[in-house]
Amino acid sequence: MVRNPSLRRRLLLFVAAPLLAVLVCGGIINYVIGLHYANKVYDRWLMDSANAMGDLVNSDAGRNELSAQARILLQFSVKDRNQFAVRSLRYGVLAGDQDLPQPSPKTSHGSPVFTNFTDHGLAMRMASVFIDNKADPGDVLVISTAETVHKRQALARELLVSTVPIELLLICVAMALVWFGINRGLRVLDPLAHELRMRDAGDLSPLRTIDAPIEVQPLVATIDALLSRLDRMLRQQQRFIADAAHQLRTPLAGLRLQAERALADPSPDTVREALVHVERLSAGTARAAGQLLALARAQAPDEALGAAAPLDLAGLVRDEVASRVPEAISRGIDLGYRGPEHGIIVIGDGVLLRELLGNLIDNAARYGSRGNGVVTVGLQADDAGGCVLSVQDNGPGVAPELIPRLGERFFRAVGNGHEGTGLGLAIVREIAERHSADLAFVNHSDPHGLRVEIRFPPVATG
Ligand SMILES: Nc1ncnc2c1ncn2[C@@H]1O[C@H](COP(=O)(O)OP(=O)(O)OP(=O)(O)O)[C@@H](O)[C@H]1O
Ligand SMILES: [Mg+2]
Repeated sequence: MVRNPSLRRRLLLFVAAPLLAVLVCGGIINYVIGLHYANKVYDRWLMDSANAMGDLVNSDAGRNELSAQARILLQFSVKDRNQFAVRSLRYGVLAGDQDLPQPSPKTSHGSPVFTNFTDHGLAMRMASVFIDNKADPGDVLVISTAETVHKRQALARELLVSTVPIELLLICVAMALVWFGINRGLRVLDPLAHELRMRDAGDLSPLRTIDAPIEVQPLVATIDALLSRLDRMLRQQQRFIADAAHQLRTPLAGLRLQAERALADPSPDTVREALVHVERLSAGTARAAGQLLALARAQAPDEALGAAAPLDLAGLVRDEVASRVPEAISRGIDLGYRGPEHGIIVIGDGVLLRELLGNLIDNAARYGSRGNGVVTVGLQADDAGGCVLSVQDNGPGVAPELIPRLGERFFRAVGNGHEGTGLGLAIVREIAERHSADLAFVNHSDPHGLRVEIRFPPVATG
């Protein structure tokens, strides 16, 4: 079973890693500081020894030699190996170790000089003082005392070791506090989880009202956007069901009435008359069902449709018009296409675009001029890089005050003399919106008629 990543653990890790790095850095800094102070203390001791030796040498003026006791004292050390040397600038090494490096008196300016060097692989530190030779005025004695640095390093290590447990303890306490803080901090998500848990299935109102912290706001905004999409879809579905019920109830009631009429009076004339009505009503019902389904398809969420792809609108329009010519001829309508044969590309859904065109041609044929109807479908590229699809008839057009209502569901101009569901232009509007196209209705005076224009945006390249 795959375990989901834990936010708590991740936060703790992000805090623990830097804390550990701080511990290591702190240890190094402690060691360096410890070494610095150990050096200071032991340097002082070395310098004092050199000064004391200088006093001893000068006190026995004329001999410039150390007594045997002084030698033993200076060379004695529990942990370190000690060395010393007494040099005269004039006579060379008077006593002690010949191999000790000699500091230059010029660098000293009267103060002691400290030198680091290695002797047989051992790190050594040496303090040198310069004093006037009382036995030989004008000569300078250089007194050097040196020792290995074991003591200093041991002291620094001791200091380090003594601080590590305290630091570890502090880090443990800090981690415990961080863990506590993270747990407390994450509790701000509880009200959000509670609110979502307690929600009614039908309550799709936004969560925005909750006092969510600023970091959680993007999550709340995403949930709100999802809720609002769900709300819109649910409303659409409810409207569709209401529309469908409304559209089907009336013709079904009519069908029932005709059937009752025929049953009540089975004379051939009445039955025939009822059947004529039944035929008309069932054709209307079938058309209404078809239009409702087309509207539902046009409103379906993007995922439910095929992915929009570039398609040749010119070829699609040409074919669609051609397929409708025989029916137009049978209705006495001159249906034609004016535009290129191919080569006008839009991003879209071919099935929906055919639906759109079918509804417009159907309206133009139905509400256009009677007897000598002329319906022209046009397609041309526009200056902006898009294209304009138009369907024009030579009928009476639509009263200007009604034009804004075209595209409303179930809107039908009174007295247009035809039966219909009033959904055709609503379907056209939905499909145009899906393709980010603009829909416009224009009444023409010469020749008289309605022109419907759909302006498609340019195809984005790259
Ligand atoms: N070309 C046109 N000329 C004049 N009036 C039109 C034209 N096209 C549409 N109309 C008016 O707009 C109304 C709405 O048209 P729409 O296509 O939406 O519905 P419908 O044709 O009545 O029904 P449906 O197309 O769903 O069967 C029509 O009833 C008609 O009055
Ligand atoms: Mg129509």
